[in-house]
Amino acid sequence: MTDEELQTRVQALRGDFAPLLLAWQRQDGRHDLPWQNTRDPYRVWLSEIMLQQTQVTTVLGYYKRFLERFPDVAALAAAPQDEVMAAWAGLGYYSRARNLHKCAQTVMERHGGAFPRTAAELAELPGIGRSTASAISSFCFGERVAILDGNVKRVLGRLLAFDGDLAQLSQEKRLWRQAEALLPASESDMPAYTQGLMDLGASHCSPRQPQCLLCPVSGLCHGRAQGDPTLYPIKTRKLKRGQRENWWLWLEHEGRIWLQQRPSEGLWGGLWTLPMYDSEDALDAHRQALGVAELETLPRVQHALTHFDWVLHPRRGVLTGPAPEAVVVPVPAPASAPVPAPAPAPAPASSPPAGQWVARENLSQYALPAPLKKLLD
Ligand code: ADE
Repeated sequence: MTDEELQTRVQALRGDFAPLLLAWQRQDGRHDLPWQNTRDPYRVWLSEIMLQQTQVTTVLGYYKRFLERFPDVAALAAAPQDEVMAAWAGLGYYSRARNLHKCAQTVMERHGGAFPRTAAELAELPGIGRSTASAISSFCFGERVAILDGNVKRVLGRLLAFDGDLAQLSQEKRLWRQAEALLPASESDMPAYTQGLMDLGASHCSPRQPQCLLCPVSGLCHGRAQGDPTLYPIKTRKLKRGQRENWWLWLEHEGRIWLQQRPSEGLWGGLWTLPMYDSEDALDAHRQALGVAELETLPRVQHALTHFDWVLHPRRGVLTGPAPEAVVVPVPAPASAPVPAPAPAPAPASSPPAGQWVARENLSQYALPAPLKKLLD
C-alpha cells in the first residue's frame, strides 16, 4: 500500500471512527476499573505501568495494596527500594518496579512532586515510553496524543489493513502517524477515546478470534472487508525462545530459610531467591561442604520469560546443629550470561553478606519472584 493509498484510507475514516468508538466506549466500555474516574496522574501512571505485560485481573489486587502502602508519589519516592520490590513481587518484569521508584524520585526532585502535564515531558521520565506517556496525558489532561501499545497496533493495523512490517521502525512510525490522524477533535473526548481503543483491543478485537459481529467499527474495517482481519498487523520478527536450567538449594535451619538477594540489575534484579546453581553437581558439592546429609528432590518449576523458558530444579535440605551465619554462595550473574559453577569460597569480610536466614513468618516482607513464592508456600 502506497502512502497515498494509506492517506486516502485514513481521511475517509476520520469522520466516523472516533465518534463510533466513543459511543461504544460510553455505552459498553469499561468504567469501573479502580484507575478510572480519577485524573490523578500518580494513580493513572501506576496503573499503566502495572498493566504493561500484565492482565487486569492480576493487577487489581496489587494496585490496591500498592496504593495503601504508597498513597502518593512522595511516599513512593521516600520508600526504601526493598519495600517497593516487596510490594511488586509476583508481578514480574521487575525493571518496571525499579524504574517506578526512580520515576517517583525524579518527579519529586525535578518537578516538585507534580507529574508534568504533556506526553513529551512524561516520556522523559524513567520507565515511561511514548504510548504510556500518551495514555497518562490523555487520561489526566485531555491531551490530544495517540497511544500505540500492542493491543492498539492490532486494532489499528486491522482497521487500516496496514501492510507494513511493524518489526521495522519506519513502519511503526508510519502507523503512529495514522494513529494521530484518527484522534477525535475535542480534548474532552480524549479519555474515553483512549480507553475505547484499549477496551476494543481487550475485548472484541482479540488476537486469534476477533468478534467482528460485535465490533462497533466493523463497518469501517479494511481488514474485515478483505476477509481475514487476523492477517494484520504484520510483524515478521519472531522471538527465538531459549531454554535455561538451574538448580535451587532450599536450605532450612530451625524453620528459617536461606535467601539471597540478586544483583539490582538483570533478571529478577533486587529480588530474593534461593541459592542457584548451573548444575546438580555444583549444588551437590556445596551440599557436602555444608554437611547436609540428604536432599529432597521437589517437582521442577517451569517459568516462562520473554526470551526463554526457565526450568528450576528445587532440592531441599535441612541443616542441623549451629547454623553458619553466612552460607556463602556467590549470587549468580544475570541469566543471559553463562555463569561458571559458583565456588563455595568465603566472601571477603568487607563485602555484603551473600544472603540471610529468613524465618517463614517473615517471608512476606521479602520480594520473592512469583514461582519461588508458590514453591515456598
Ligand atoms: N491496559 C493498559 N491500560 C489500561 C487501562 N487504562 N484500562 C484497562 N486496561 C489497560
